[in-house]
Formats: sequence, C-alpha cells, structure tokens
Amino acid sequence: MLAIDARDVVKTFHSGLLGRRRTAALRGVSLAVPRGAIFGVLGPNGAGKTTLLSIFATLLTPDGGTVTILGHDVVREAGLLRRRINLASGNASFLWNLRVAEILAFYGRLYGLHGATLRRRVEQLLEVGELGPHRRVPYNELSTGLKQRLSLAKSLVNDPELLFLDEPTLGLDPDISVRMRSHIASLRRERGMTIVLTTHYMREAEELCDEIAFIKAGLILARGTSGDLKRQIRIGDVIALRLDPPHVPWLSQAPGVLRCAVADGRVHCTVDEADKRLPELLRALHSEGVMVRDVQVREPDLEQVFVELAR
Ligand SMILES: Nc1ncnc2c1ncn2[C@@H]1O[C@H](COP(=O)(O)OP(=O)(O)O)[C@@H](O)[C@H]1O
Ligand SMILES: [Mg+2]
Repeated sequence: MLAIDARDVVKTFHSGLLGRRRTAALRGVSLAVPRGAIFGVLGPNGAGKTTLLSIFATLLTPDGGTVTILGHDVVREAGLLRRRINLASGNASFLWNLRVAEILAFYGRLYGLHGATLRRRVEQLLEVGELGPHRRVPYNELSTGLKQRLSLAKSLVNDPELLFLDEPTLGLDPDISVRMRSHIASLRRERGMTIVLTTHYMREAEELCDEIAFIKAGLILARGTSGDLKRQIRIGDVIALRLDPPHVPWLSQAPGVLRCAVADGRVHCTVDEADKRLPELLRALHSEGVMVRDVQVREPDLEQVFVELAR
C-alpha cells in the first residue's frame, strides 16, 4: 500500500504587481512512496521541494494533478488526513517568548489534548527530543540544534503515521546533524513511521533514504536508490594515483580517460570503466618509467551525480 500517490502535480505561484509574475514551482510531478519508507526529495534551492511537501501536508493546494496520501485525497479529505500526518521544517519558527514545554503544550492543545493527557504527552515529547533540561528555556534563547529538535518533537505531537521533514538538518553542525539523522532513522525503526524528507545534502539522502527523487525546476529528473542514480547518470569511475614524478601530462589523453585533476598529491583520473582502464594505465605508466606508489579506485559519490544533474 502506498503512503503517497501523486500524479502530475502542478503548482504556479503568482506574485508581484497584480500577480503578473508567475513562477512554475511544480511542472507535473508524479511520485509513489511505499509505506514504511524513508524517502528523500533532493534538489537545489528553488527546485520546488518545499512546495511539494506543503502540498502533501495539505498546507497548499495543487493547481493540477491528484495527490492521495494514506488513501485520502489531499484536497477533499484534508481535515481527516491532518490527524494522521505532521510536518517539521528546518526553517520553523515558534513564538519567541514561549518556553520549550509551553510550545509543545500549545501544539498539544491544537490536537485537542488537555489535562493529564496533555501533560503526559508533553513529557514524552521532551524525552523524545532530549529537551528535558531545556524545558524552561524561551524559544529565542535556543541554539539552532535545539530549535530543530523542538521542531521535530512538535511534529510528533499527534503520533503521525506519515511525517514530512523539510530540510531537517539545515544549518546544523556536522556532529549534531549525525544525531538528528540517527533520530530520524529510529522513528522509522521503532514506530514504523513513513518519512519523506527534503534535503539539498546528497550525503544525507544517501545515508538515510531507501529511495531518492531528484527534483529540479519543478520536475523530477531521476529517482531510485542512490546506487540506481549513480548508474543512471554514467559519470565514470575515479582512479586516484600517487605517482613519481607526480605530474604525467599525457594521462589525460590516454584511452578511456574522461578527465584528470590533481588533488592531495594524487592524480584523479575519471575513466569510463575502471576494470578495463586500470591495467592499461598501469602498463602505460610502467613503460614510460613512471613509478606508481599508490592506487585507489572508487565509484563516483552521489555528490558528483548531484552536481551533474543540477547543471
Ligand atoms: N509563496 C510563493 N510565492 C511566489 N513564489 C514562490 C512562493 N513559494 C515558492 N515560490 C517559488 O517557487 C519555486 C520553488 O520554491 P520552493 O518550493 O520553496 O523550493 P525549494 O524548497 O526546493 O528551495 C521558487 O522559485 C520559489 O521562489
Ligand atoms: Mg525549501
């Protein structure tokens, strides 16, 4: 059963004087996300990620196409759906002078919780977000990392089956991002939650997501596992060589070599097929009297695929 079934979703924004400026944020997006998945929507700034997530989360209505979430139509059954989903944004902001526990209680009340049930839920959320020691801190005094954790904790207030996370690690230090990602992974593991997240960090998508859709200028350009994406966009393998002498000008002209770059004292040759080209290159280097001190072969990382796609 699908958590999300979106077909040909279109959204255009009108802005400026008399709404004359039109921005086609989504230009026909179709997407299917199975239940229990962690699905990544990856793309550069302005690609349409937030718009897509906002439509899925019933915060915006599409101009065209259909979106079915957990079996409900996002437009006609928005009210019903909202009880079963939630969204956290890396850009969220809450009332500045409310304290952490007060903010969680505020959202609890919006879902009809009160009295002892509300107090229990707030305690649970403080624990999930590891926010206990900060419960009395006003929002404007929280660090970025704590703000993101609060935003995530708030989004769990109705124990959603499907959670949307819009750039959950935006602006976080690397070590805090790692914890945030393991937190997200545990929501699926422990609660079986389906999670759809947007990010413009390739590494994050690669680490966390079963499947990734790459979106640019309102269109999905590719989708699949990170392995699928690497194979779809054939950008070659990289052979990194430490050579003596270190610079060998003819390498970039050798058969099968697409480009060469020097970094960290190594020559990085991007080749069409490493299995085939490595023995050839080693033979050629040997016969030219170049000493090979070290060789490493690696697949391109998803970062490179991303750069290629975003071009
Ligand atoms: N409320 C809005 N009014 C006008 N244009 C908007 C609005 N929201 C988003 N856009 C435009 O739509 C495009 C997609 O935006 P967005 O979905 O926020 O992208 P992303 O989240 O991938 O950075 C951008 O060109 C953005 O400027
Ligand atoms: Mg965005």
